[in-house]
Amino acid sequence: MSVSPLRLRRLRENPRLRKLVSEHKLFTQDLVQPVFVKEGLEGRAAIASMPGQFQFSETEAVKEAQKIESLGIPALILFGIPAKKDTRGLEAFSKKGIIQRAVAKIKKNCPKLLVITDVCLCEYLSHGHCGHVRRGRVLNDASVATLARVALSHAEAGADVVAPSDMMDGRVLAIRRLLDKRGFEHLPVISYAVKYASAFYSPFRDAAENAPGFGDRSGYQMNPANAREAFRETEADLAEGADLVLVKPALGYGDIIHRVKEKFSCPVGCYSVSGEYAMIKAAAERGWIDEKKVVFETHLSMKRAGAGFIVSYWAKDIARWGKGGSS
Ligand code: PBG
Repeated sequence: MSVSPLRLRRLRENPRLRKLVSEHKLFTQDLVQPVFVKEGLEGRAAIASMPGQFQFSETEAVKEAQKIESLGIPALILFGIPAKKDTRGLEAFSKKGIIQRAVAKIKKNCPKLLVITDVCLCEYLSHGHCGHVRRGRVLNDASVATLARVALSHAEAGADVVAPSDMMDGRVLAIRRLLDKRGFEHLPVISYAVKYASAFYSPFRDAAENAPGFGDRSGYQMNPANAREAFRETEADLAEGADLVLVKPALGYGDIIHRVKEKFSCPVGCYSVSGEYAMIKAAAERGWIDEKKVVFETHLSMKRAGAGFIVSYWAKDIARWGKGGSS
């Protein structure tokens, strides 16, 4: 008698069974929608390199937040674009800054929506780097001190979570200490712990108007050639008090998401960045790929790699497409 042959196709032919046995699923509740709010803007402005994405005025950002909330997306991450940049980043921590005003308004109108704020200086400094610059160098410790003030100002405005994305060493500790000192010991910090110096961020520069005026960010963001360094970054940020960590970009970095997830027991998310969005949108616009199918596939790959949550420009679309959940 011969052994019955392995027939894996038995589990694939019936679509319902296929769904039942799918190992990973993508849910609306896994997603965080990025939102850009620009000071002095009337209405909203399309972002050329990210079709379907916009910069919003304060008022429009509130409407956008309401849409996000009504779609069942649990969170948004807010980026601010000030009317005036300077060499000190004053608008980044001003009580009346664009992000501080927007956070307060959004929280007032959408009290249940989780409002995460991106904590960085690149949108606020005239040279566009993520930290203070002296004689052509990006300074670490001076930047960390400012970043802590920025995070505190977001907390005071009503942010639910702060997310430092600057990649200065020691910033999580400085932020944690200042938050604790000022009565925000309950406020979680998502650290962009593993952030690579990626060419996939280019379209974001149109969105957040933060292109560096000289050089690039490889003096502080990670080298894409390195994997083990991701452990050192994560370990350091967790020791400094980070509650959740992000890996960024997502596409092309599944190995990193996976390894960080295996090694650390904290929640791990990933950020599907602007270039991933632009690339898929562009090919879909030409009819070369099916946007919806590719988006489910790439986002499922992130879940499969181990991401517990995904910051994605498609969050709203996925919520609409999947009506709560899809595989
Ligand atoms: C700010 C910041 C960037 C992104 C998120 N926060 C830009 C950068 O580091 O150059 C990129 C997000 C994206 O490309 O979608 N430091």
